[in-house]
Amino acid sequence: MLKISTTPKSLTEAPKKYCRLVLTDKPTSVHRFVEAADGVTEYRMGAGKPTSMTVRTFRTLVRSFVQAAKSHQVEFLAIDIESVRFKTLESEGGAWLTSTLVENLLLADYEFTTYKTKKDKSNKLTEVLLCGKLSAEETTGLKRGLIVGEYTNKARDIANTPACDMTPTDLAEAAKSLAKGTKMTVTVLGEKELKKLKMGALLAVGQGTKSETKLIIAEYWGAGKPTAKSAKSLAPIVLVGKGITYDTGGLNVKPSGSMHDMHLDMSGGSSVLATIAAAAKMGLKKNIVALVPSAENAISAEAMRAGDIVTAMNGKTIEVLHTDAEGRMVLADALTYSERYSPRAIIDVATLTGAALAALGQQASAIMSKDDAMVATLQKLGEKSGDLVWPLPLWDEYKQYIKSSRADISNIATNFSRFGGTIEGGTFLSYFAPKNVPWTHIDIAPRMESISGDKLAKGSTGEPVRLLISYVEQA
Ligand code: BES
Ligand code: MN
Ligand code: ZN
Repeated sequence: MLKISTTPKSLTEAPKKYCRLVLTDKPTSVHRFVEAADGVTEYRMGAGKPTSMTVRTFRTLVRSFVQAAKSHQVEFLAIDIESVRFKTLESEGGAWLTSTLVENLLLADYEFTTYKTKKDKSNKLTEVLLCGKLSAEETTGLKRGLIVGEYTNKARDIANTPACDMTPTDLAEAAKSLAKGTKMTVTVLGEKELKKLKMGALLAVGQGTKSETKLIIAEYWGAGKPTAKSAKSLAPIVLVGKGITYDTGGLNVKPSGSMHDMHLDMSGGSSVLATIAAAAKMGLKKNIVALVPSAENAISAEAMRAGDIVTAMNGKTIEVLHTDAEGRMVLADALTYSERYSPRAIIDVATLTGAALAALGQQASAIMSKDDAMVATLQKLGEKSGDLVWPLPLWDEYKQYIKSSRADISNIATNFSRFGGTIEGGTFLSYFAPKNVPWTHIDIAPRMESISGDKLAKGSTGEPVRLLISYVEQA
């Protein structure tokens, strides 16, 4: 991992091995190396007009520091903290500034190299040195940013691991290693226990493979475990993450061009696990539960069939009209299970529909809730953290499309219409979310994989870990 260190000394006092970053107000495309008077290399980089700097352009700018350093074989980089204290960002606070700086240095530095037999060391950035005195707030933000960046990258590592090495059992093991050395605990339920709980929807999705279906339960009681008396004030936030370790589509098999990156279909799961682990690492005084229903949506003679009817844990019967609409089925039983925690709020995170990409492109995740305040909060925190979310309606009018003639509801529209597919997914989940608990569904399919403008390595983005951490911090 990239080392980030600090010194109260000024940039020009930094040891000579550090290349000094100097920001200019030229366009961001203008950058060059110059030899400073004392013989040390300076990298002059355009940051645009300081008066035009926004939270969005700042994150991209920070990532381009790393990209530039790597592409020019700069191993040691020194940054003057004063040079990134933009006036336009002052209202965000010092903690935000340094946290955002450090997070984005770490995110931009990340590469998935687990399966490279020859590690390419030629463009390795070893260390970034932040020069100048930090305020107390900035010091706090720096510590936070180190954890947020590290754990977002851990979520990416888990998600990027191919399905042959990341079965539901492996995902459960990954959860346990995240918990090591922290107060986060992990309990894993296997098929026998899931049968006892009558989780018919989750089990149906995983019945076509030898990889055992699991429900991964992570708990962190940073505010103290609720008792009968304190049940209300200490009620946890429950985060539910889709943990499909591979999505072939099932018997309604996916076309080949749409299948190869479906090892990332557990990105919701890895992000909620990384979030609770980060909260535990930070020692947040918050109560959080993460639930990851995990299965492989495989094809075999034992796989669930289109036309099957299964009974979910809450007693509702589901007509499986399409085996590729499996995410909502595994989430259904996890949402029902969340009820036993009497949660304060529930957020589920899932790579649920390709339709979310049709609606929003790859710039933002779709967010759906009947709780307007929760949507507003998450949108604001998304803007601040960088995990952008944009709302779609969750109106009762959409329920009619999934009313089944053979069962209570069907897992896709009974007329096979593809219209409003993302809303349809959220509507299906609304039958399982506990009543009277604020609940929000986030369809992260648009942000499952990075795009070139992100300035991130190919593969998982680790979204929305930054957003979820920000949410639990303020909740
Ligand atoms: N995991 C997919 C959704 C997905 C697609 C995520 C592309 C990221 C990129 C999900 O399980 C799925 O297959 N959804 C179907 C739903 C349909 C059958 C109603 C889809 O989007 O086509
Ligand atoms: Mn699917
Ligand atoms: Zn899926």
